[in-house]
Amino acid sequence: MDDIRDKFSVMISKEEVERRIKELAEEISRDYKGKSIHMICILKGGVYFMTLLSKQISEDIPVSLDFMSVSSYGNEMKSSGIVKIEKDLDEPLAGKDVLIVEDIIDSGRTLYYLLGILKDRKPSSIKLCTLLDKPDRREREVEVNYTGFVIEDRFVLGCGMDYQQYYRNLPYIAVVDS
Ligand code: IMP
Ligand code: MG
Repeated sequence: MDDIRDKFSVMISKEEVERRIKELAEEISRDYKGKSIHMICILKGGVYFMTLLSKQISEDIPVSLDFMSVSSYGNEMKSSGIVKIEKDLDEPLAGKDVLIVEDIIDSGRTLYYLLGILKDRKPSSIKLCTLLDKPDRREREVEVNYTGFVIEDRFVLGCGMDYQQYYRNLPYIAVVDS
């Protein structure tokens, strides 16, 4: 790995991240009152966010979890918008109120493709929650129901997001200096 420890700085502090996730959980708890939530974590980036978010959901709302891993094809294939399912869900979605939990939406290709696949499995409802959104980079229209922070087009890491698979565990969101 290229060592970039001297090349990044804090963009959103641990406290700000946690405060915002608590707000999102309160909003989601209001919206899902009387229902249950089937959270789908998009691995690996979504794992820290889903853990923090799910622990803050009202205890009156039953929450179940499932995990999915996807990868984008290489650059020349990417324009087709095809992503490959590396690990599929364990449970069927029929009749469930599904909340997809993602670390960051960038071009929107991954979620655009995934939403298509998951809607075909006939959930009762499907919504999307992302910790970060980089709308300037959007190539595919996706409806995002819950957004933690909208950020400019910079490469970020921490809170689940990686640089060459490292630094996902940083408790804050860091930006790589350019
Ligand atoms: P897209 O929306 O299909 O372009 O892809 C989104 C995925 O790209 C995210 O789930 C992340 O895994 C990854 N990604 C996009 N921007 C960043 C970033 O700034 N840092 C780390 N990963 C990123
Ligand atoms: Mg991701």
